Amino acid sequence: MKTYDAIIAGAGLIGSAIALELARKGLRVAVFDPGPPGQEASWASAGILSPAPENPGMITAVPLAKESMALYPDFIASVEEASGLPTGYRAKGTIEAHFSANASERVSTVVALHRGLGLAAEALSSADARHLEPALSEDVEAAILRPDEASVDNRLLSLALVEAASRAGARFVTGAVESVALDASGRCAGFAMRGEEIAASVSIVAAGAFSARIAGVEKYAPVVPAKGQMLSLRCAATRIERVLWSENIYLVPRNDGRILAGATVEHVGFDKAVTAQGVHQDLAGALELAPILASAQIEESWAGLRPDTPDHLPILGATDVEGLLIATGHYRSGVLLTPATAQLIARLVLGAPLGAEYRRFSPMRFLPAGQSAQASASTH
Ligand code: GLY
Repeated sequence: MKTYDAIIAGAGLIGSAIALELARKGLRVAVFDPGPPGQEASWASAGILSPAPENPGMITAVPLAKESMALYPDFIASVEEASGLPTGYRAKGTIEAHFSANASERVSTVVALHRGLGLAAEALSSADARHLEPALSEDVEAAILRPDEASVDNRLLSLALVEAASRAGARFVTGAVESVALDASGRCAGFAMRGEEIAASVSIVAAGAFSARIAGVEKYAPVVPAKGQMLSLRCAATRIERVLWSENIYLVPRNDGRILAGATVEHVGFDKAVTAQGVHQDLAGALELAPILASAQIEESWAGLRPDTPDHLPILGATDVEGLLIATGHYRSGVLLTPATAQLIARLVLGAPLGAEYRRFSPMRFLPAGQSAQASASTH
């Protein structure tokens, strides 16, 4: 039997960042993943760092998103320094393009909403938008510039985080966590895998879309996979500086000249096939937003599984099983929410309770009302 201070199921960005945070605080940490670290949603994502809500339902997550966004520059600097690896961070801003006949009114409304949430946003005319990003379609009627937004190469960040966490002393172990192990008093004693119990003072589930497959976790983290299909394009005819959005697509430029285009949102189980319909949807959106990409080469296509939750909000915090914490369900914002999640979970591991502002993300919210309120009073 091996004993750790903290063990983490899932070696994606969230699990690796938690491992780094805890290892830096001197804890003995191990991270378990069935495959190589960071190869699931963390690999498939586009790496957009935008705290702007994509729909009214996401407004409730904006304070957490802003908190994480504010941590990003220091987080990147510290991970790059600790790992000696680049992360492809680009603090170049975002342009959201609108095509409809009433685009100007729509832009005014969204700018006002974003400013009301404390997010920098500026209305642009079509000409101004095309001046900043000549690849944008002439059919764009109006646009929004969000100058403080950024992107990161999530694949590079995954590699850098694993290296940094390993150098700080965290162990990465290949193996699928099968269940939560409870001791005789009902406390979480660790994880069970391959017939063995891995003992730890604190066990953290950060297995993204796969979290609910770990026995004992589903009631706290009823996540389901939301497939996203993506393309990587390379186009000699144009250069894109900022992340570009329309309601149908986003385009994310990388430092090496690639332009990522995505993504579909499909609730089709644990299926990662790239389909004709998915590629068609991505290409149609990309060419509508930036017609010059018609001459682009398609370099790669892939699909990943976002961890979606019943209310589309992340699941962060303590459960009513002592020693069991959850950090999953980040849905479309996992890369953005990585540094804040790592800090919050580290705070809990070290015994400091989370403030009331984080209660909406509690893993206890999915339990039947009475059970949830009772547990909430005793664990938060
Ligand atoms: N964050 C964008 C997406 O999930 O597609």
